[in-house]
Amino acid sequence: MNKVKFIEFRQNGDEKGHLVVIEGLQDIPFVIKRVFYIYGSDQDVIRGSHANRKSDFLLVNVSGSSKVKIDYGDYQEVFNLDHSHVGLYIPKMIWKDMYDFSKDSVLLVLSSEHYDADEYIRDIDEYYKERNGYVK
Ligand code: TYD
Repeated sequence: MNKVKFIEFRQNGDEKGHLVVIEGLQDIPFVIKRVFYIYGSDQDVIRGSHANRKSDFLLVNVSGSSKVKIDYGDYQEVFNLDHSHVGLYIPKMIWKDMYDFSKDSVLLVLSSEHYDADEYIRDIDEYYKERNGYVK
């Protein structure tokens, strides 16, 4: 079972600034089919609140910071996203809440799948049910 983990990327930095490269299958464990980014969320907003049956994700706060609460069904873990060169890998079938966005937060998300609303589980009890069957 794949678990949520931080992945640190190389910073190609010099006096001109920084450049970070993320290549599918090389720096992260999937081919990138979709990119989106989230910004302008107030500090008290909770986003996400879903699990995905098919999609793996990589989240990077390229600017600012946010927190991600992971619910594995039997325990929870909180990750702080506050580095432009560190991403959080979230495999499929894991419930996530994103919150505590800083004013300057730009959360970049890379995904292994094209968007398909039907692969989103937005009901936590349905998630616990499917997650149980998935883990065993
Ligand atoms: P949603 O998944 O609810 O965002 P969050 O989990 O961050 O709160 O998506 C917000 C809206 O954007 C919703 O109407 C669906 C749409 N959307 C797409 O059309 N394509 C996508 O790839 C994503 C992630 C969302």
